[in-house]
Amino acid sequence: MKRFWMIMLALLPVTHTRVALAYTEEQAIGGQALYYQHCLQCHGETMAGVDQAPPLAGPQFAGHWRGESLLALVERMNTMPPDKPGTLSRQNLVDILSYVLWYNGLPFDQAPLTTDRTTLTDTKFPMPAMGE
Ligand code: HEC
Repeated sequence: MKRFWMIMLALLPVTHTRVALAYTEEQAIGGQALYYQHCLQCHGETMAGVDQAPPLAGPQFAGHWRGESLLALVERMNTMPPDKPGTLSRQNLVDILSYVLWYNGLPFDQAPLTTDRTTLTDTKFPMPAMGE
């Protein structure tokens, strides 16, 4: 199953010429620091979710977001943390998103994930369901 998705992801730039989902390793590392600071407490070290907080990786999360735009996901993240919504900059949210993408098994690339609204709107969440 994983292999199937890796092939599908490799084909994405062909079927989706306009925007390929991309982020850099450096960006994900920066995102990890932000995640640890602002999100870890509730969503957990492995993004499995703690108490009321849902997972940010794995089949349930992918089921929510597959086919949705990354902008929608960034806007959802902007409602977080629940007691301080809207406090993180878009750049910080996009960096956290890149770490979330890494945790969901998407490979690094040469180009960072952009904060550009149009590109984020055009880029869909392609996550494979994990653990199948
Ligand atoms: C105080 C606990 C807490 C913190 C801190 C927190 N979250 Fe959440 N998060 C929740 C809860 C509870 C929900 C589900 C209910 C809701 O939407 O309020 C949620 C839902 C989400 C969802 C929707 C998941 C889905 O499957 O659709 C995303 C995405 C998310 N959080 C991202 C983040 C990010 C990114 C951060 C850090 C910037 C963060 N959260 C910080 C508690 C938290």
